Amino acid sequence: MNYDNGLRRFRRGTIAAWGLLVVCALALNIGPSFAAGDAKKPKPHDWSWESGPAGITGTFDRGALQRGFKVYKEVCAACHGLKFIAFRNLADPGGPGFSADEVKAIASEYTKEVLDEFGDPVEVPRAPFDHFPSPFANEVQARASNNGAYPPDLSVINKARAGGADYIHSLLIGYKDAPAGFELGDGMYYNEYFKNKQIAMAPPLFEDIIEYDDGTPATIEQLSEDVVTFLMWTAEPKLEERKRMGFMVIIYLILMAALLYFTYRRIWSDRH
Ligand code: HEC
Repeated sequence: MNYDNGLRRFRRGTIAAWGLLVVCALALNIGPSFAAGDAKKPKPHDWSWESGPAGITGTFDRGALQRGFKVYKEVCAACHGLKFIAFRNLADPGGPGFSADEVKAIASEYTKEVLDEFGDPVEVPRAPFDHFPSPFANEVQARASNNGAYPPDLSVINKARAGGADYIHSLLIGYKDAPAGFELGDGMYYNEYFKNKQIAMAPPLFEDIIEYDDGTPATIEQLSEDVVTFLMWTAEPKLEERKRMGFMVIIYLILMAALLYFTYRRIWSDRH
């Protein structure tokens, strides 16, 4: 009798413990992530800004930033905005390194609407302090032009998605034909790196879709690597400054530690 009671209590305890574990796991979102569908894990890539021990000496590859800007401007800008970036940022230290004159020329390729002295709207060229325009008037128009899907602003996309640069790169080069038996939605494209393996964005990159000014061959891989480098900079324009500062702080701490050690030796030198 006693033995049975003990067993029953033990079983009840075990069930309660498992229940608690499942509730905790759900609360902490441990285990397979159902939200991401059955998307494939992004492939890790060697990025210039991640080089050196723990990436501390990594900087942006200037050439990649300038080429990546060209990819954004001539391909992605048709559907995606870059609202947090002003044209003049393109000349900021730690960025693509365009000159002030180049920035002026780039800005003037875009127009904006202002009111003239009679209060009538007129189109004028944008100035370096203006921001990149969004390609659509609002979300409704954006969705109407894209099969109901919304092309997100790309300013901080590298930070906004799990997997960051590796994910965006994998996504851009990851288009494939859907395997037999896969149910692809209308106007959708097969891509294993996107949730549910289908995305409303048509493959945006093709070999030689643009011509690079520095003669770099424009393969899909190269175009993607460059635009993702550029989007890493837009997401974190102060990345190089932050790393330089971190490096200085470490040197300062090492010097400080050495100084304190020798001071300690000196103060206690007559005690044995
Ligand atoms: C013809 C329009 C079009 C062009 C050009 C285009 N995209 Fe997209 N993009 C979309 C649409 C639409 C979506 C939303 C897809 C969805 O939600 O299914 C999207 C989504 C994305 C996403 C978000 C994926 C996610 O995880 O939510 C990224 C990143 C992206 N595009 C990058 C780019 C880059 C980089 C380029 C240029 C090389 C580019 N796109 C060119 C239409 C476009």
